[in-house]
Amino acid sequence: MQTITTVAELRRVLARARKADKRIGFVPTMGYLHQGHLTLVEASRAQTDVTVVSIFVNPAQFGPNEDLSTYPRDFLRDQELCRDAGVAIVFAPDVQEIYPTQFETFVEPGELAKPMCGAFRPDHFRGVATVVGKLFNMVQPDVAFFGQKDFQQCAVVRRMAIDLNLPIEIVTVQTVREPDGLAMSSRNRYLSEEERRRALAISRGLFAAADKFRLGERDVEQLIAIAREHLNTVDQLQYLELVDADTLKPAESPLRRTAALCAAAYVGSTRLIDNVILPLSTP
Ligand code: PAF
Repeated sequence: MQTITTVAELRRVLARARKADKRIGFVPTMGYLHQGHLTLVEASRAQTDVTVVSIFVNPAQFGPNEDLSTYPRDFLRDQELCRDAGVAIVFAPDVQEIYPTQFETFVEPGELAKPMCGAFRPDHFRGVATVVGKLFNMVQPDVAFFGQKDFQQCAVVRRMAIDLNLPIEIVTVQTVREPDGLAMSSRNRYLSEEERRRALAISRGLFAAADKFRLGERDVEQLIAIAREHLNTVDQLQYLELVDADTLKPAESPLRRTAALCAAAYVGSTRLIDNVILPLSTP
């Protein structure tokens, strides 16, 4: 496994792989890797020849009062996990490499970035789209892998790839959960034991609604109400929305198209997100 920190070196190494007709898979991350990331690596290894993992805590996607400076980091452990998982290249640029002085060009996503997380983190998806767009140009992968936990991010990135004619297949991989249902996230490490117990309300609520959906419930308000019943142990429910899975607009009742029930909540000072997909064969 190679660890590369500059775009020039990355391009040199990947040009060789491309010349040898290798398919390149890309897993963008902000590090502090967990099984969720490693599942993306597994998917990449199954579908491509060379897997590149980027580790870059992207300042552009954090708001002024968010956790950029305290975001968990453990580069040596990340490298070891990548090596064990069969990653070919870890790309770990510093901030100057990605945002050199005088950097001023951003990717501005549209409507998909406005609801849910976008309503509470105004420039977040602009930062995500910008860094993912830049990383796509640096790596030029054939396929890129994202976790479903960040459902809105997946929608924004997929749209960007279409709108900017990027020849990259975007694959969304199912959320990996702890045995008790908590969605894996680098931010889970912020939770005290007591907070972690209360955080379970999020997945429990979403699963309860998904169970009712499987039993035939199609009423949007009912499904939201079922999830909400579980959510009284979180400290602040930022949103709980049932949205159309393609447009991210509020789902219409009765549900006739695939929808996603998405939640964001604070437990203590930790903001957690999660979602479940309610699948319907969309006409
Ligand atoms: O999902 C993440 O970890 C980040 O948003 C990403 C895609 C690596 C961009 O910084």
